[in-house]
Amino acid sequence: MERAGSGASSPTRLLRLDGTATTLLLIARRTGLPEIAYWGTRLPQTLDAEAVFALRAPDTPNNGPDNWRPLITVLDTIGQWNFDLPGLLADRPDGTGWTADFQTKSLETSPGALTVHGLDEISGLEVEIIITLGLEDVLCTRQTLTNRGTTPLNVQRFISGNYLLPENAGEFRVAHGSWAREFDFQPVSLTQGGLVIESRRNRSHDHYPAILAGTSSTSQNSGMAYAAHLGWSGSHRIAAERMEDGRLRLSVGEYLYPGEVILAPGETLTAPPAYATCSSEGYAGCARAFQAYARSSIIRWPGGRMKPRPVLLNSWEGNYFDLDERRLMREADAAAELGVERFVLDDGWFGSRRDDTKGLGDWFAALAIFPNGLRPLSDHVHAHGMQFGLWYEPEMANPNSDLYRQHPDWALHVRGRPMLTSRQQIVIDISRKDVSDYLFAAISKQVTDWRIDYIKWDFNRDLIEAADAQGRAAYRKQVLALYALWDRLHEAHPELEIESCASGGGRADWGALAHTQRIWLSDNTSAPSRLRIQNAGWHFVPPEVTGCHISHSPNWMDGLSTTLDYRAAIAIFGHLGVELDPLTLPADESRRLKAWIALHKRLRPVLHSGNAQFADDEPARIIRGVTSRDASTGIYLVAQENWPPSRLPAPVRLPGLARERLYRITVPAPQTIGGHRPSDAQQKLFGDGLVLSGAMMSDIGFYLPALQPQSALVLECHAI
Ligand code: DGJ
Repeated sequence: MERAGSGASSPTRLLRLDGTATTLLLIARRTGLPEIAYWGTRLPQTLDAEAVFALRAPDTPNNGPDNWRPLITVLDTIGQWNFDLPGLLADRPDGTGWTADFQTKSLETSPGALTVHGLDEISGLEVEIIITLGLEDVLCTRQTLTNRGTTPLNVQRFISGNYLLPENAGEFRVAHGSWAREFDFQPVSLTQGGLVIESRRNRSHDHYPAILAGTSSTSQNSGMAYAAHLGWSGSHRIAAERMEDGRLRLSVGEYLYPGEVILAPGETLTAPPAYATCSSEGYAGCARAFQAYARSSIIRWPGGRMKPRPVLLNSWEGNYFDLDERRLMREADAAAELGVERFVLDDGWFGSRRDDTKGLGDWFAALAIFPNGLRPLSDHVHAHGMQFGLWYEPEMANPNSDLYRQHPDWALHVRGRPMLTSRQQIVIDISRKDVSDYLFAAISKQVTDWRIDYIKWDFNRDLIEAADAQGRAAYRKQVLALYALWDRLHEAHPELEIESCASGGGRADWGALAHTQRIWLSDNTSAPSRLRIQNAGWHFVPPEVTGCHISHSPNWMDGLSTTLDYRAAIAIFGHLGVELDPLTLPADESRRLKAWIALHKRLRPVLHSGNAQFADDEPARIIRGVTSRDASTGIYLVAQENWPPSRLPAPVRLPGLARERLYRITVPAPQTIGGHRPSDAQQKLFGDGLVLSGAMMSDIGFYLPALQPQSALVLECHAI
């Protein structure tokens, strides 16, 4: 009878990957794929491998298996004493091939990277798993599965990343939501059993493809925190499981519909990349790691470098479908006067699209509105030195459109069943070459002819019974075709930027971000909601790629009235936009808006490159900010959501500044002092400022003049 660490399970090699502050340890054994032995804070450079092997060798229960196997390997499969949620589900037409026992055929290591080749000769399966860990402390896993058998392999699940969490890290935060309520973190505590989060619509309003985990004492700034994310814009599955022996594992991967992946002999399936990080600095530490990695390794800027994010005006909430060329030109004039740098014309400019019932898919200018096409408006915008952006929803069509009348066979639906529409539209099969060629040609020509600098790419419905012309599920190939189309447009137009929008934040994942330069976090532009949505979203994506707009008050969605200062203070931390009719703004609001845009431009070099800070504060208030990488500057938002629990709110404590350094802290214009009989110190904040050390600001804190619910202040700290 085999014991842990002896016989076939004997360890042969200790493998390690190090980031700046974290380490992943794997144990290669004589049999099976490498075991995940540890993932957490960085371990000393020299580790005694034998000692680690000893640590990872528990006893076996009385009635346990006679062939010991570690429970958590880089890819857990059915078989070999694995009763946990399998990372691979597949079988062959004759019913074989459903178990897998991969043997490690080769292990290649290089600094920061590990490649594992596994082979199961009986089942005819081969895997390649590449794990990297770099300076930002983000594990990236890329894996492929190859059918080495002689019959087709029907794959129902092939995960992208598998993680071992410490036993006490069973407190999860799941980014659930719905349209206009994206990134609504919900706590889930896992004592035993499984937690499965699946999104099956090719949009992720319901569940963002990421998860946070921590212990019962993990906070924004302390305790071990873990985060995982799937870089994929299609259906997905996140699964956490606490085994009967207490071990806790987490996996992320695609959700595959039946029949979507049938590998012919020799064919390979490449899973979307999985990303994970952990930090001893709480959830904020994970956010900083993810933001840094997204900046260094995910986002691709035209020209290779991010240019200052242009403040934009989007026409949607100011005009909806009521478009008029001359008026739009006047809006562009007013926008330029406000300091706007990019003018974006939203839905309604094409075909017969005067509302959302018809014309979608007819990508030619509506001649009744734009008799000479879009070039005159584009020229008008460019004459102000602004960029021109245009809205498209290329993957869709209204049944009442020329496109659908000419190509009814392009629709994704089950032939013979009634066509299922949503927002009066259908999805077209862009994985067909003729369809993607058509879209590419139409859009590419307009980008050139109309001098389009930026595309807002929308996607306004879920995939429902998305069958291709042969009746097969087409969810997965639709995503791959989308990525290919985006890349093709970027190649043809190297300066073009694209925004990924899907009725708001339905496509805000790193899969989309690897092919676009902006994501629209939510259609909900109401400041109190945005405060929460952005707070949660910035745990996964950096602010400079998230559209954050100042819109009209009262807000169209929830009817709430808020001050312009409140809306602006919340929006300026992201990629700032204005989504209102600038011609109807009262003069005072125009003046203040112009001042806020100027403030944003002055602060954006730090806001869009620094380290994210999230304070642990009282529930009625949110304090967050960004510190420059050298900690010489900190920009913070203090936003009062509700009445504080006591007359005096808790002192404001700002995380992330250098403890020993002195900073001048001010409340920059156009903000003005409020509150009742403010103290001298508070008045100074709105004037020359106060000089305080980083430690004083983070530990002792200071009192701001009382903030009413739904008001906020932006604070600026500069080292002196
Ligand atoms: C949904 C988007 O999220 C909105 O911003 C707007 O572009 C509309 N679609 C237009 O139909």
